[in-house]
Amino acid sequence: MNDDGGGADEREADVSEAATADNPLVRRVADWNAETLHELAAAYDTPLYVVDTDRVRENCERLRAAFPDADVRYAVKAHTGRAVLNAVRQAGLEAECASAGEVDRALAAGFPGDRLHYTAVNPPDRDLDYIVGVAETEPGVTVTAGAVDTLDRLADRGYDGRVCIRVNPGVGAGHHEKVRTGGAPKFGVPYDRAAQVVREATDRFDVVGIHAHAGSGIDADQLDSHREFVSRMGDLARALVAPDEHGSASGSIDADQEADQEADQDADQDVDQDADQDVDAVDLEYVDVGGGFGVPYREEEPPLDLPAVADATREAIGEIHTGAGGTATLAVEPGRYVVADAGVLVTRVNTVKPTRETTVAGVDAGMTDLLRPAMYDAYHPIRNLGGAEEEPSPVDRETTSVTVAGPICETGDTFCNGRQLARPARGDLLAVGIAGAYGYEMANQYNSRPRPAEVALANGDSRLVRRRETLADLTTVEREVDE
Ligand code: LLP
Repeated sequence: MNDDGGGADEREADVSEAATADNPLVRRVADWNAETLHELAAAYDTPLYVVDTDRVRENCERLRAAFPDADVRYAVKAHTGRAVLNAVRQAGLEAECASAGEVDRALAAGFPGDRLHYTAVNPPDRDLDYIVGVAETEPGVTVTAGAVDTLDRLADRGYDGRVCIRVNPGVGAGHHEKVRTGGAPKFGVPYDRAAQVVREATDRFDVVGIHAHAGSGIDADQLDSHREFVSRMGDLARALVAPDEHGSASGSIDADQEADQEADQDADQDVDQDADQDVDAVDLEYVDVGGGFGVPYREEEPPLDLPAVADATREAIGEIHTGAGGTATLAVEPGRYVVADAGVLVTRVNTVKPTRETTVAGVDAGMTDLLRPAMYDAYHPIRNLGGAEEEPSPVDRETTSVTVAGPICETGDTFCNGRQLARPARGDLLAVGIAGAYGYEMANQYNSRPRPAEVALANGDSRLVRRRETLADLTTVEREVDE
């Protein structure tokens, strides 16, 4: 892997090709080389995450090809492993970080400050202290704040650098209610107050952008919500950069938001008064419409038409001409799309139990290794890679109803229930697909389970990038307790 420390030259990577035979729109679990996965499982044991950084790079290239004029920022939270961060940096993306820890990892992976965005959601004091410290040496870093309190706390620390205001667009989308961010009051300044908050922030900070994130896992069916949300951000941006021409953005609020506004008349009046006054233009560098591009988890699901989403996004946001004669840049921050199909979780069948309804395949990975099915009822494709002694290849076995269940003492600890799969046998390896995003990243030690190992593939080579945790790792932070 060419680890050259980063720099602007990386942005020159060739992104002229969209999807090609070398860069398909999705890598399905069926596309992984079974022999390689068997060799890796033999070498490193199971459960084992395998992440292919070549595929990460391909995903970055398709994103940059679809959004050639936009800033593409990788939402680091999907996978913070160093090998992934290196690949993303080399592919020319920026990094969007959700915590001090993520910023620290992105810096360590060579992202320079001017390619780093820290999105502060109710940030702990120690995270703010950290980021203000980072900004002293890396003034190009941008802090995205979603509450006036956060701005006050930054100012209290003497910070007057680059700030982006996170807006609550009032429109959410995503694969599960738990990841629909856009309408949740937790996130961002309410849309009807955003213009005023942005303008006031210019007195204290270098306000460079506005930001919103509708949610995660948006598929083609949700494109209307996506368009609506993006067009609101465009309206808000125009009201900010050219207030004389476009006035207050609070005019485009829908019925739901009006209901919310009724609950807070005082704040509304402030917005209206503000709209009537002469206000200065805010010279925005960018409008960040977040991430959320979905990937096809189900075998029969078509991949997202990214160029179409990009076109819809550009059209919905419209032109945003700044007073300085420039144009505010569109920014997007996908996480899942970058890394989801670059990863699989390999697990071994240790128990096969026929029941009246289904055959339970007990495996050595569980919800602690891949939380998504338990947390969101998420579907992950599962492929039997075989390997059980004296059993034919899975392609030559009959299919049957299989429930793949982990070793954790919780009913929700299953990867699928009653799914038609090749009949499992003890010793088989199963590959759980599309596991690269929010897979290892959400792994935990519940039931005192050490976290799995991870191997990275690059240019045909494999490398252990995270060793398997041991039982001793479970207690490393625990203090001795007197009897
Ligand atoms: N930007 C912001 C501000 C976000 O909060 C997120 C995700 C993203 C970008 C990236 O979204 P993506 O492109 O990855 O959909 N653990 C859940 C997903 C939670 C996403 C949280 N925020 C899952 O496994 O589905």
